[in-house]
Amino acid sequence: MSFKVKIKNGIEIEVDDGNTILESALDQGIDFPHGCRTGNCGACKSKKISGDIEMSPYSEFALDKDEENQGLILPCRAVPWSDCEIEVLSEEHNDETEANGIEIKCLEYKVTNITKKTKDIFILDLKIGNKGSLNFKAGQYAELYIGNCKEKHFSMANSPETSNLEFHIKTLDGGEVSNYVKNKLKIGETVKVKGPYGNAYLRDRHKGPIIAIAGGTGLAPILSIIKNSQEIKMKQPINIYYGAQSEKELYCIEQFEIFSKNNKNLKFFPVVVEEPENKIVRKGFVTDAIVQDINDFDGYKAYLAGPPKMVEVAEEILITNGIRKVDIHSDAFYTPYDEIKEKK
Ligand code: FES
Repeated sequence: MSFKVKIKNGIEIEVDDGNTILESALDQGIDFPHGCRTGNCGACKSKKISGDIEMSPYSEFALDKDEENQGLILPCRAVPWSDCEIEVLSEEHNDETEANGIEIKCLEYKVTNITKKTKDIFILDLKIGNKGSLNFKAGQYAELYIGNCKEKHFSMANSPETSNLEFHIKTLDGGEVSNYVKNKLKIGETVKVKGPYGNAYLRDRHKGPIIAIAGGTGLAPILSIIKNSQEIKMKQPINIYYGAQSEKELYCIEQFEIFSKNNKNLKFFPVVVEEPENKIVRKGFVTDAIVQDINDFDGYKAYLAGPPKMVEVAEEILITNGIRKVDIHSDAFYTPYDEIKEKK
C-alpha cells in the first residue's frame, strides 16, 4: 500500500506504507531541504496542509510545541497514513540548503589504512578511485557501503580540499558495519561512498565567533570544519570543546593542539568526566565547561556533533545564553542503541 503526497509546485510523490516523506522524496530524486534526517536539525521543516501524518520521535529543538500546534511537521520523521499535501518552508532555509547544490554522487574508494585510535574507535582512510572524488562541505556526511553490510552514515573528517577521505568509526555491540571494519575489512578493499548529505557544514561567510562541540566520533565532522576554517584562514575566535568519559577515550587531540599553536584565536578544550592525569584536560561535563567559559553566545555560530543527548543539552545551554536557533548547526547521529533509549 502507498499514499500520494503533494509537495510543492504540483510535485507529487508516492510514499510506501511506513516510509517517511523525506526518504521517499529523496529516493524519487526530489530536491527536498534536509540535514540530519533524524528529527534533530529542523532543516526539513514543512507545513501540513491536509492528510493524516504520524511523527516518530524528534528533538524539540527541531520542532517545538508551538510549531507543532501550528501544523508544522518534520518530513524526515513523518509517515503518512493517507494521501496528504505539505508545503516545504524552503524560503526560511535558504542558508540551510546552500549545500544542496552539490551533486550527490556514488563513488568507489579503496581502503588504504584502518587505524585503531581508542579501545573502540577506528580511523578509516580511503583513497580516491578513478571516477573522481566526492565534493562536499566541511561537516557533511556520506553513506558508506562496506562489505555486504547495510549502508551507514559517517561524517568526513578530512577537509573538502583533499580528495582522499577519512572516517571515524566506533564499534558498537551488534553494529554490523563497525564490527566488519574491526574484524574483516582489508586494505585494498572497495568501499562505495554516496553523498554528500547534511546541513551542519561550515558557514565560511560568517565572521562572528564560533563554538564547536564534539563528543565521541562526533569529533570527525568538527575536525573537518576546523581543518577547513584554518585552510581558508578564518580569523574569528574559535572555541572547540571535546567531551569524553575518560582520557583514554580522547583521540586526535594532537591535531587540535597544532591548530591552537598556530592560531592564537583558536582554543581547544578537552573535557573528561573521570579525573584526568594530563593537566591540559579539564574534569567535568563538556556542557558545564562551556558555561564556565562563555556566558553570552550572541553572534556566535555553533557546530555540534556527537551523542544526541549531549547535542540536545548543549543546544539548550547555547539558546539560554543568547545564540539564535538558526546559528546552531548539528547533525546528531542516532545509533540503534540511542534510538531505543529515545523511544523509552
Ligand atoms: S529534522 Fe528533518 S532533516 Fe533534520
